Amino acid sequence: MSEIVCQDLRVEYLASPIGVGAAHPRFSWTTGAIRQNAAEVDVRVGDQTLWTSGRVRPDIPQVGYAGPALPSDAVVDWRVRAWSEGEANPGAWTDGRFETALGADDWTAEWIRPVQQATAVERWTLFDWIVGKRPEAPIEDRLRPVQLLRQSFDIDGEVVRARLSATAHGVYTAQLNGRAVGDEVLAPGFDSYAHRVSVQCYDVTDQLVAGENVLGIALADGWWAGRIGLSGSSAQWGDRTSAIWQLQLHFSDGRVETVDSDGDVRSAPGPWRYADLFIGELFDAGAQRIGWDTPGFDDGEWTAVELSGEDRSTLVPFAGEPIRRVGELAAVSVSGDPAAGWIVDFGQVVAGRLRLTLRGLRAGQEVRIQHTETLTADGAWFANISGINKEQIDVYRAAGDQEEAYEPTFAFHGFRYARITGLDAAPATADVVAVVLSSDLEQTGSFECSDPRLDQLHQNVLWSQRANFLSVPTDCPQRERAGWTGDAQVFAAAAANNAQVVPFLSRWLANLRADQLADGGVPIYSPRSPHDIESQAAARGIGAITVAAGWSDAIVLVPWTLYERTGDRRVLAENLGAMLRWIEYQTRTAAMELPNALDGVELSSERAAAQALLYNTGDHFGDWLTPSTLAGRPLHEAIGIAPELTKELIAPMFQAHSLGLAARIAAILDLPEQAEALAAHAASVRAAFIAEYVSDDGELPVQLQGVYAIALAFDLVPEALRSRAADRLAALVADNGDRLDTGFLSVPHLLNVLDATGHTELARRVLWQTEMPSWLYEVDHGATTIWESWDAIAPDGSVREVSLNHYAFGCVDDWLFGRIAGIRSTAPGYRALRVEPDLDPHLDWVRAKLGTPFGPVEVSWTRRGGEVEVETVLPGGIDAVLCIGGREEALDAGHSVHLMPTPSGPGES
Ligand code: BGC
Repeated sequence: MSEIVCQDLRVEYLASPIGVGAAHPRFSWTTGAIRQNAAEVDVRVGDQTLWTSGRVRPDIPQVGYAGPALPSDAVVDWRVRAWSEGEANPGAWTDGRFETALGADDWTAEWIRPVQQATAVERWTLFDWIVGKRPEAPIEDRLRPVQLLRQSFDIDGEVVRARLSATAHGVYTAQLNGRAVGDEVLAPGFDSYAHRVSVQCYDVTDQLVAGENVLGIALADGWWAGRIGLSGSSAQWGDRTSAIWQLQLHFSDGRVETVDSDGDVRSAPGPWRYADLFIGELFDAGAQRIGWDTPGFDDGEWTAVELSGEDRSTLVPFAGEPIRRVGELAAVSVSGDPAAGWIVDFGQVVAGRLRLTLRGLRAGQEVRIQHTETLTADGAWFANISGINKEQIDVYRAAGDQEEAYEPTFAFHGFRYARITGLDAAPATADVVAVVLSSDLEQTGSFECSDPRLDQLHQNVLWSQRANFLSVPTDCPQRERAGWTGDAQVFAAAAANNAQVVPFLSRWLANLRADQLADGGVPIYSPRSPHDIESQAAARGIGAITVAAGWSDAIVLVPWTLYERTGDRRVLAENLGAMLRWIEYQTRTAAMELPNALDGVELSSERAAAQALLYNTGDHFGDWLTPSTLAGRPLHEAIGIAPELTKELIAPMFQAHSLGLAARIAAILDLPEQAEALAAHAASVRAAFIAEYVSDDGELPVQLQGVYAIALAFDLVPEALRSRAADRLAALVADNGDRLDTGFLSVPHLLNVLDATGHTELARRVLWQTEMPSWLYEVDHGATTIWESWDAIAPDGSVREVSLNHYAFGCVDDWLFGRIAGIRSTAPGYRALRVEPDLDPHLDWVRAKLGTPFGPVEVSWTRRGGEVEVETVLPGGIDAVLCIGGREEALDAGHSVHLMPTPSGPGES
């Protein structure tokens, strides 16, 4: 037997990270095809061993640091070795390394603020948006220039390690001696800045020189002062921008010096006349201050900055993957004319921006770039998002050089098409590139099959994931860019197949916890600004909703999904307190309020007791965007119908589900008493729900697919009535022409529920459906991402002002992995795995791969006459079983091939 070797070492899920802020970092590794029986981790700083785990037997190959406090700004060496089963001796050590972040007490730098006008404070409401109000003043009068900050410093001696810790109230880029620092964009990213501002840590050792050095920071409004959210209001956290940084220089003689942002930094407006993440930027190439970020530049005319005195206690080391340029797309076609503009098609809806190579422009010539996700059916320009401040226009003012290159720095857009005006001749396709932006998550999954439409559906989901995993999980990259909790909740499982999502979603959950309300309510999106808090307090109707069933429950459901996929208890532990406070909120509200329909109704004592348990009041989004409730009415009229119809049922269903999961979570975290109390509470809410809402023949009060799908998925129908309720659901689907009619909250459950209740054939028909509403309808109509609503492009080709890039309905991707490929985790972190593919007759073969804590799992199946050949590649440590047509075979680690008879198709009950 070959020796067990630990490989792919990670700290906090990342390979050799620097700037790690976690007090108890998680160490993980894999051992290839060999099952690990035990492992040992030790951790050193210099030649001092700080901690050793001893020989431990973790459930998954992961160990949390449990030694004394790690020193800050330090290089930490760690190593791991493992024992394979039945071996007395461990394998060899494998070495890893990471670095800790600057500690809160290490900060000596001050927040500094360039002397600048405040940005225009523009406050808009949902109502303004609906009635189409727009700002009147021209953009250049409303926005202000990007500021440059310049700091010169000397270095005397040999620097062996230099780390720049930097962040901003705004967004910034850093330059050192004329070269960009790091490769991330839009730092510091989006956070709930009133509570947390992420600090980036950069390795700048190689950029330093002996003698004079210059650090240059360009500072724009970003999420802090710029426009964001549905309303497009500005200055939601502040109307001025500021920055803070601290450069730690470690010399070969052991000296440590720091270069801090302080009052000696000089500032001047930069070549960006304005820059806003939503609106776009105006870059005036002729106004560049050449050499400003290098030694020797004369900054005598520049102004001294102010010390803003802002709080340093909100600084937190950034955790996870930053936003980067993750890809480039060539133009597919360029059409148009100089007067109307050149329309460039990139063939793919993305979040990002253009990079242009421009030749022979006159000094001052303006090139304008507009962005949209779709054209009209006949190819005319159509802005599919046109809310307040959603212009999505970048402007380049030329320097007049022979060749100029331009990519915006402080803006990004949601688009497939760009319209470029200001150019006399059509740009060559090679000169227009779409630069794709996303949080740079490790892509761990893949899915392919014999039907190109399903492949396209999967690709569409991936592209929507990429575009909306941009600093925080957002609803859409063009209209709101808000961290909607409901969207993330329904999509988390699908996302986890495609990428390593734990660091990204954990950072967002940290924001969500920071935004939790004093009464335990969990907001409908996070980050949530002070302006959001004010405007929601003043709003009426849907705009006033601050917590909502299925949205707020993300605080329970997202950590649970992450735990299911990774077995990482830390994710649960971090969020347990917030979950319990959300549960208390629901419990209290349930006890205090009765649904309006029961006003003045004399209730029996039993019914009153049941009602007092049910969280069934208040405004909620309900099963948002249920297709049948939207048909034939203008969106702003229709949007409230599904909430009205479903909220009283949806809220207690999510309450019961969250309670049940919280009970399991408490048990997993070794809190047996709490677990028992929560389980009892969950059981009584379930019983109250059934008594109030489930009839003796398994009917629910609202005849919508979504209500049945959720009730069945969350086990809220008595066992004896399950099949009747499922038949009712199946009848609703069949009556709808085998088309789904599920909204945001229920769509992730529909196919699973149909399949689990014996309606597999119907689930297939819904999946393969091509009439609207259906996934393949979108594919057939040229979708390259997942749309916000199924009729974003109607059968007659007409287009609507909705988002073409909302991942929520893309949750079906989890079905492709879990049921079409058949990769199902049956114990947390894939410790146990069932490979149980649905041998869907539409398909001849399927091939899928996803990441697990033990390493990648690959499954493929191919029809071979009357048999099916299943090929698997599995890491060691997983108990895997192949199940086809009632036959089960154990699966070994490594590569194996199994030939099984193809079962006859599942019957329809
Ligand atoms: C967003 C959604 C979000 C919803 C809340 C919309 O405007 O785009 O995706 O979840 O509001 O109901």
